[in-house]
Amino acid sequence: MNTEQTNQPTDALPVAIVTGASAGIGRSAAVEIARRGFGVIATYHSRPEGAEDTVRLIEDLGGTARAIRLDVGDTETFPAFREQVEAALANEWGTDRIDALVNNAGFGGGRAFEDMREADFDEYYRVLLRGPYFLTQTLLPLLRRGAAVVNVSSSSVRPGESEPGYSGYAGMKAALVTASRYLARELGERGIRVNTIAPGPTRTRIGGDAFEKYPDIIPAIAAKTALGRLGEPDDIGRVIAFLVSADAQWITGEDIQVAGGYGL
Ligand SMILES: NC(=O)c1ccc[n+]([C@@H]2O[C@H](COP(=O)([O-])OP(=O)(O)OC[C@H]3O[C@@H](n4cnc5c(N)ncnc54)[C@H](OP(=O)(O)O)[C@@H]3O)[C@@H](O)[C@H]2O)c1
Repeated sequence: MNTEQTNQPTDALPVAIVTGASAGIGRSAAVEIARRGFGVIATYHSRPEGAEDTVRLIEDLGGTARAIRLDVGDTETFPAFREQVEAALANEWGTDRIDALVNNAGFGGGRAFEDMREADFDEYYRVLLRGPYFLTQTLLPLLRRGAAVVNVSSSSVRPGESEPGYSGYAGMKAALVTASRYLARELGERGIRVNTIAPGPTRTRIGGDAFEKYPDIIPAIAAKTALGRLGEPDDIGRVIAFLVSADAQWITGEDIQVAGGYGL
C-alpha cells in the first residue's frame, strides 16, 4: 500500500469490503485482496456458511476477515449495515476507515422482453444498480482518501454479446458502468478511484447454478472465447484485487473486460 497516497496510518491494516463474497467471483476477490495484505469484510445474503468458508480461506492464508449479512436490494438496511461495519473496523482492525469497496453481489439469468414484468425489472434494478449506487453513498464517509471502488459489471453490456433475454440484466449493468464513470469524476476530488470490471461467462453459481446443471452450454461458450475456455472465478478475482491495490493507483473511470476474449 502506498501510505503517502492514502493517508493510511502506518500501523493500520488496509480493509476492503467485498459484497457477495459467499461464493464465486466475490469469494475469489476477497481471498485475492487478503493475499495483498488487506483485512476483508465479506458480505453474504442467503448463505452464511459460504461466507464463513471465505473467512476460513483467508484465515488459512494468515489474513483477517469478518462475515456480515447484507441484502443489496434493500437500501433501508444500509445504515444498520454501516453501523455493523464501523463496529467490525474498530473491534477487528482498530480503524474507522475502509480502503476499498467491491460492489460484486448480484444475480443473473435472463427473461424475454415479452415476458418481463415490472416486478422482475425492479428486481434487476434494486440489486444490480440501486444497491451498489446507494451502498457506495452510505459508505462514502468511511472511504479513506486514496480508496478504491470496483463495481462488477458484465461483458453482456458490449455490442456483439447481446444474448436474447438479457435486456433487463444488461441494461442495469450498462447503467452501472456509466454511473461509475461519473462517480470517478466526482470522487476523484477525494482521491477515490472508481472502476468497473466486466467478466465474461464465468464458472460460478450464477443463474441458479446454470453451469453445473447444464454443462452442455459450456463448449459453445468456449468456442466463442478467444482463449478457448470458460472463465474461472480466480481469472476475475485477481484483476479486482489488482484494481484495489496501489499498483492501480493511476487507473480510474475505466471499464475493464476480463473475459478471455469472449465474443471478439
Ligand atoms: N458468472 C458469470 O458468468 C458473470 C458474468 C458477468 C458478470 N457477473 C457478475 O458477477 C457478480 C458475482 O456473481 P457470481 O457469478 O460470482 O455469482 P454467484 O456465484 O451466484 O454469487 C453471487 C453472490 O452475490 C450474493 N447475492 C446475490 N443476491 C444478493 C443480494 N440481493 N444482496 C446481497 N448479496 C447478494 C450471493 O450471496 P448468497 O449466496 O449468500 O445468497 C453470492 O455471494 C454479479 O454481479 C454478476 O452479475 C457474473
